[in-house]
Amino acid sequence: MHSLDHEKLPAHVAIIMDGNGRWAKLRNLPRIEGHIAGVESVRDVVTITRELRIPYLTLYAFSKENWVRPKDEVRKLLELLGIYLDKELPLMLEKGIRFNVIGEKADFPGTLQAKLVEVMKKTARNRDLVLNLALSYSGRKEILNAVTRLIEDVKKGVVKRIDERVFRKRLYTGSMPDPDLLIRTSGEMRLSNFLLWQMAYTEIYVTDTFWPDFKGDQYVAALREFGRRERRFGRVKED
Ligand code: FPP
Repeated sequence: MHSLDHEKLPAHVAIIMDGNGRWAKLRNLPRIEGHIAGVESVRDVVTITRELRIPYLTLYAFSKENWVRPKDEVRKLLELLGIYLDKELPLMLEKGIRFNVIGEKADFPGTLQAKLVEVMKKTARNRDLVLNLALSYSGRKEILNAVTRLIEDVKKGVVKRIDERVFRKRLYTGSMPDPDLLIRTSGEMRLSNFLLWQMAYTEIYVTDTFWPDFKGDQYVAALREFGRRERRFGRVKED
């Protein structure tokens, strides 16, 4: 399928879905139309990820910093998220997709929080793909939260020695593997506070394509490029 070498596929793909606003502006449409079109790309990418049996996908949907956007855009984005969850739940159940939120759920209105928890609970037994949605997410905050939890556990005597393993368990991603590949759409070359600890050795792929135009063929091209990368994790090239 998609003529990709399955041995060279990532186990965890993370995506910064950028450029919805610019996509809309180019078409003289309101920004929200870019986000609405972006949901179609989410659907495409989730479907292909599952078909290729890539077990983890993390999408940056809303950052902690996004709350300062115009009130109307934030309101409509949250509305869109609610609609997405209602619409996709049956498909997640059918396709074995486990939905998970990373970020501060508590920042969201009660009804949306309840919906997020409901979808997480209903899909908790699914095993084919973990779909992490980063919502009100901040990588620095995630690290600080993990530090706080670690200090509490040291005080309680649950943790005696601090190492990478005990630390990473306290991140939102817990025991999941770190992303092998980060895709960022719309050309910007930055991490934007996304998965800072987890991306220490992640391969980065940036494309100029705006997120609403990032469809299956573009995703497959990114995965193919990943397959060509030589990953050394600080070591010298192995023979
Ligand atoms: C970045 O584009 C995109 C976002 C901040 C939101 C991402 C949301 C979606 C793709 C749709 C909702 C997702 C789900 C899962 C329902 P931007 O607005 O920063 O674009 P710009 O940089 O061109 O202004």
